[in-house]
Amino acid sequence: MLNLPIMMPFVNLSAQRDAYRQELEKAEKAVLESGCYIGGLEVQALEQELSAYCGGVQTVTCGSGTQAIEIALMALGLEPGDQVIVPDFTFIAPAECVAKLGGTPVFADIDPKTLQIDPESVKNLVGPKTKGIIAVNLFGQCAPYGPLRKIADEHGLWILEDSAQAFGATYTAGGTGCGTAAGGNARRACTFGDISITSFYPSKPLGCYGDGGAIFTANAKYAEKARLIANHGSRERYRHVEIGVNGRLDALQAAVLRVKLRHLDQELKQRAENAKVYDEFFAGLSGFAPQAIVAGNTSTYAQYTVLAENRDEFIAKLNAAGIPYCIHYPMPLHRQACFDGRGKANDATCPATEKTCSQVISLPFCAFTDVQAVVDRLK
Ligand SMILES: Cc1ncc(COP(=O)(O)O)c(C=O)c1O
Repeated sequence: MLNLPIMMPFVNLSAQRDAYRQELEKAEKAVLESGCYIGGLEVQALEQELSAYCGGVQTVTCGSGTQAIEIALMALGLEPGDQVIVPDFTFIAPAECVAKLGGTPVFADIDPKTLQIDPESVKNLVGPKTKGIIAVNLFGQCAPYGPLRKIADEHGLWILEDSAQAFGATYTAGGTGCGTAAGGNARRACTFGDISITSFYPSKPLGCYGDGGAIFTANAKYAEKARLIANHGSRERYRHVEIGVNGRLDALQAAVLRVKLRHLDQELKQRAENAKVYDEFFAGLSGFAPQAIVAGNTSTYAQYTVLAENRDEFIAKLNAAGIPYCIHYPMPLHRQACFDGRGKANDATCPATEKTCSQVISLPFCAFTDVQAVVDRLK
């Protein structure tokens, strides 16, 4: 019989539940016994707490991060035929939502070190049909909002900040003109877009026990519109003034999120400590480069992701050591079959994305991951 080491979890949600069990069970029981399961006071309280945490924005919760993008695009007034610049290297949701609403995703390349959307590439893709930019805070680090906001302002575009992976991250603009507040001080994610969104998918830095998401904006008109769309276009029962969606968050998910939000800052601190352990390990090896975090930014490390020059060899080592891994992401989005005939980008326009897809690999990571144990198994 093979004597393989026991596989550790990629994200240790059981350890997190154990840590907050009493608080979670109390909050869950209160909702179950309240008879109010969708929306209501629990959801309202969560929205207020999320707004206070981010600062300067209103929050509208909804059913998932993908749904939050869809609602945001509807609130921004996306029309069929409109073009939206999206990163070529990310999860499919931003480009998918643009295409679903009849728009055309136009795929921008990334910076090969930070793996974030490259403002130079964005600049070259702006055309007469471009209406906006979706910037993704990839793996937990904010996109470069200083330069992106400059491009958006020059061309009259909106920015949709996809912070599905980065609720709680901070970004230092080093200048003015980003989002709602002036100045170069660090600000929290979800405040940099004309509309911003996050996901509460269970493994996200702030995750619930099912699907969930939220929309954030400092613009009162967008907030009102997003709330309307998220409720079947209805302010008054059975009166519908817009085409909308069923975009509701369960009270049970809100209760879980309220508990976890109280622990988020401590978890983010622990995540940063854990990332340091991996950083030190990879600094001593050749052929590996962790995602670069720009000075002044803090990442949530939704993923701890490295570029491995010889990924197959590294995967063999991980398998032998019983260490799970994920490939985020194996393929540039513009090559996905669902976009055939839609975006403008071609293979030649996104070389950094192509190379990154062939090298990228994510390791087990959360606030409860024993990263030292991972490193010890790899030594
Ligand atoms: C960058 C990004 N955007 C959007 C989403 C969609 O979020 P959800 O799974 O809650 O729909 C995800 C989820 O992984 C994501 O990583």
